[in-house]
Amino acid sequence: MPPLPIITSFYGGSVSALTCMKGIYAESVMNDILTTICTRRSCRSFQQTMPPRDLLEQIAKAGSYAASGRGKQSPVIVVVTDKETRDQLAAMNARFLGVDSDPFYGAPCLMVVLAQTSFPTYLYDGSLVMGNLMLAAHALNLGSCWIHRAKEEFADAEGKLLLQKWGLTDAYEGIGHCVLGYPAHAPDKPLPRKPDYIRFV
Ligand SMILES: Cc1cc2nc3c(=O)[nH]c(=O)nc-3n(C[C@H](O)[C@H](O)[C@H](O)COP(=O)(O)O)c2cc1C
Repeated sequence: MPPLPIITSFYGGSVSALTCMKGIYAESVMNDILTTICTRRSCRSFQQTMPPRDLLEQIAKAGSYAASGRGKQSPVIVVVTDKETRDQLAAMNARFLGVDSDPFYGAPCLMVVLAQTSFPTYLYDGSLVMGNLMLAAHALNLGSCWIHRAKEEFADAEGKLLLQKWGLTDAYEGIGHCVLGYPAHAPDKPLPRKPDYIRFV
């Protein structure tokens, strides 16, 4: 078997949680990626500390590298670190959910994924971005959770005003919020997968 290539960096940046140091073999990096995928859990309890911008940039970048139908990159990612906007979105979300509590579980920041509906694959494209964001967050030891009802939020007048403020138009539909922060507790183990999840035919 030929020697495995040596990995010196991960998409141009350093990623501590993936232990991508010079001299690590591609195979062990792959195993780190698979472990990250299989150990991610939704986080519903966060510390108040804001993650550094560098981590948020790495997570958003991972989101932007998601595959998209015909490579059209229909989604956009809006990184929200401003408390006022974060609280406004949480309040809108709570209204649609019909609760008084914080639907963002105290997460200090979030990324809103929206996608341009003129592309036939926009919903799939945006969902894949959400997946990348959650996995990247986990790889960097941050907690994350997909919070729903972005569609309702940005179809609403208040949401449309936010879109305008962000330089976006009505052509975008909300896909999801990826709330982010340092977890307040260690994550639970992944739930067992249903026995008939996978079949080879
Ligand atoms: C499309 C979608 C919408 C979700 N919406 C919410 C939500 O609004 N609030 C929430 O607490 N979790 C939400 N989740 C997280 C799921 O509840 C969670 O992924 C599921 O319970 C499995 O747990 P795990 O992520 O830890 O594996 C959502 C997940 C997906 C994929």
